[in-house]
Amino acid sequence: MIHGDITTIEIEAVVNAANQTLLGGGGVDGAIHRAAGPELLAACKELLQIRPGVRCPTGEARITPGFRLKAQWVIHTVGPRWRGGGSGEERLLASCYRRALEIALKNGIKSLAFPAISCGAYRFPLERGAAVAVRAISDLLQRQPSIEMVLLVTLNTMTAGVMEETLKHQKGQQAATGT
Ligand code: APR
Repeated sequence: MIHGDITTIEIEAVVNAANQTLLGGGGVDGAIHRAAGPELLAACKELLQIRPGVRCPTGEARITPGFRLKAQWVIHTVGPRWRGGGSGEERLLASCYRRALEIALKNGIKSLAFPAISCGAYRFPLERGAAVAVRAISDLLQRQPSIEMVLLVTLNTMTAGVMEETLKHQKGQQAATGT
């Protein structure tokens, strides 16, 4: 877990919290596109639209080069908008983390950094979003030891505090159950 701007991290891949168009936006999406430069948008526009305006459906992930970013790759994923918790939001969010890790594995990427997907403009409650992130990442890392490092990057102190607590709680649970 680290606290800072994901676009400044020296790591193989950064994960972008995008929208289905993959044409950029605000938040971390805007920051990544600004840091990567215009080639990132051009590369996103090359990606197949599986239906008009949709290059990456919610819960899925796509990969592009990182261009001017320190990271060689950007793994774009689209988190669910929070609609109260009854529309499979937690399942879709877990799928974002899982699909991003699967794409990293497929591309031989051994280290990647995630923002708190959906926990900004998409209004996913931070505590629940953090718990989904930590659980999904630790589940996959237990099964795929070839991934050497996964960073959870938080931009603001409030998110950092919640992520720290969630991580500690998860570690405590694993210690207690020996998983
Ligand atoms: N580095 C790390 N984390 C960041 C950064 C950054 N530079 N900028 C924002 N964040 C954090 C936010 O504080 C939040 O905790 O990323 C988390 C996700 O927030 P958003 O970027 O708003 O993403 P999300 O909630 O998934 O909404 C996605 O917003 O930007 C648009 O195009 C995007 O439509 C999509 C929607």
